Amino acid sequence: MTTHPNVLSKSSLMHVFIMNSLLVSVCLVLVGIGCSGQSVRPVVYNANQELKEIRTPDILFVPTPQEVVEKMLELAEVKKDDLVYDLGCGDGRIVVTAAKKYGCRGVGYDIDPDRVIESMENVKNNNVQKLVHIEQKDIFTLDLSEASVITLYLLTSLNVKLIPQLEKLKPGTRIVSHDFDMRGIVTPDKSITVTTDNNETHDIYLWIAPLKKNDKKN
Ligand SMILES: C[S@@+](CC[C@H](N)C(=O)[O-])C[C@H]1O[C@@H](n2cnc3c(N)ncnc32)[C@H](O)[C@@H]1O
Repeated sequence: MTTHPNVLSKSSLMHVFIMNSLLVSVCLVLVGIGCSGQSVRPVVYNANQELKEIRTPDILFVPTPQEVVEKMLELAEVKKDDLVYDLGCGDGRIVVTAAKKYGCRGVGYDIDPDRVIESMENVKNNNVQKLVHIEQKDIFTLDLSEASVITLYLLTSLNVKLIPQLEKLKPGTRIVSHDFDMRGIVTPDKSITVTTDNNETHDIYLWIAPLKKNDKKN
């Protein structure tokens, strides 16, 4: 029986297709294995993300003074192997400072496209693209379970609104909030007051997961 040349080329193509698929699968598995290690985990710099108005921010941008940023990170005892999420990152100063000072990874989330662009520029200017990732997201839609440190400068009402997400944090995750607590619903594990060089005082609150709610009715 003679084999038609077209049949031969089809089976060859199929062979090449199968071999290519196998090669791609092996590569994906290898990349996956590489990604699971702490030190090689890629942090995608989202230069190509599509930025658009999602909705009006729940609070406008007011930056945390740099001295207070440093104290927030100290109170959270940030270490190199931490993953810091700043919810409502503004110009990205908290995650950029954490990466520069402690060499840890960070993700800054903001809903405002202008803030996202500003944060990305800050990341680039400080050369921490390998550690810090900025994303345009509504913080109330986030799964926070990967974070080991959460930083907040929102409002008491917004901190309280975040409680259902914060209750799902892994044990030991530290939450630090500039100036706003959780209205007594969850008592902070620690709080400090920082006086800046220009004589302003700022409170910083620390909670360590799991959150211990005071009143089950809340
Ligand atoms: C007071 S600023 C704090 C900025 C920064 N974390 C700091 O401490 O310097 C609050 C930020 O939250 C952002 N924001 C407000 N509502 C948000 C939401 N629902 N999701 C994400 N970001 C939000 C604002 O755009 C603003 O940049």
